[in-house]
Amino acid sequence: MHSFYQGKTILVTGAAGFIASHLIDQLLESGANVVGVDNFLTGRKENIEHLKTHEHFHFIEADVIDYPDSYLSTTDYQLPTINCLFHLASPASPVGYQAHPVETYMVNAFATHQLLQYLLINNPQARFLFTSTSEIYGDPLEHPQKETYWGNVNPNGPRSMYDEAKRLGETICGVHARDFGMDVRIVRIFNTYGPRMDLRDGRVLPGFFLNVLEQKPIEIHGDGTQTRSFCYVSDLVEGLLQMMEKGDFAGETVNLGNPSEITMNELALLVNEVADVHQTPTHITPRPEDPKQRKPDITKAQTMLGFKPIVGLKEGLQSTLEYFKTQV
Ligand SMILES: NC(=O)c1ccc[n+]([C@@H]2O[C@H](COP(=O)([O-])OP(=O)(O)OC[C@H]3O[C@@H](n4cnc5c(N)ncnc54)[C@H](O)[C@@H]3O)[C@@H](O)[C@H]2O)c1
Repeated sequence: MHSFYQGKTILVTGAAGFIASHLIDQLLESGANVVGVDNFLTGRKENIEHLKTHEHFHFIEADVIDYPDSYLSTTDYQLPTINCLFHLASPASPVGYQAHPVETYMVNAFATHQLLQYLLINNPQARFLFTSTSEIYGDPLEHPQKETYWGNVNPNGPRSMYDEAKRLGETICGVHARDFGMDVRIVRIFNTYGPRMDLRDGRVLPGFFLNVLEQKPIEIHGDGTQTRSFCYVSDLVEGLLQMMEKGDFAGETVNLGNPSEITMNELALLVNEVADVHQTPTHITPRPEDPKQRKPDITKAQTMLGFKPIVGLKEGLQSTLEYFKTQV
């Protein structure tokens, strides 16, 4: 229970997405009035189906690239004063952002600008949280990645529409914090997983589970020695809530994720074990510009917020598998 949110009006973009739908559940449980916006570019109606009749949830189907006045206050709906805005709208998987390159750079850069300008004019006291990504570190030359590391990113490659747009989104947040005195906070999310992920979005974990559920051997891109660190969605959401509510963190940037690092070969074996499957994984062509290693240094989040992921990978994979079984 996060009493900070009690009675406050919280706007969440990307509301029908995997992470935002869990965030909204927690906000409503904490007594907030939540306004969710989504255009269903990569999100799904079923993720928020259970909220349809909730008296403190209001959903607006809109593209947040549009000017906020055009969808937030209409003749049918008058938006109360926003206290906090979580900006999560964006395709998040390589399949998603490569299928929608323009939408991806627009939602992370232009929509971030639009939403901040809207708040600056209408409610400059509101807090704004931008969900950036570990992808801003690119193929990192520093390991694990601290917030002070500037990254190793290709400005014009197959992932740039996402990586560079998130970096520009951070720039836009920084300008609004420094030059306009707004309370803007940035979270760099590392790989997150759990129920309501899209089984077919091409990310590594759904991909492995899809193989298993289709009774095929797990397909590992490349030699499988590349590493990732997976955070269960409830841990991540707890960090997002803390980052918005706690102390005087205007202008701050934190990594949120689980620092337990695992190779893709180890992950494939663990997925097999959880699913009780005995097929040997196979190796397929590496993904272009796939980072070789990824592990958050979460010292800052631990110190500032008391952030501590608690769900173990095996436990998290079990509940994720139960969800994915309903999606086949
Ligand atoms: N899941 C992860 O591991 C991860 C890692 C790093 C960063 N992030 C960031 O967290 C956020 C949420 O990611 P997710 O995994 O829940 O992805 P998701 O695709 O499930 O959710 C994103 C939501 O944004 C919506 N959206 C996209 N463009 C929009 C637009 N122009 N207007 C309105 N809605 C729009 C989509 O329809 C979708 O519902 C994203 O910003 C993503 O970049 C996620």
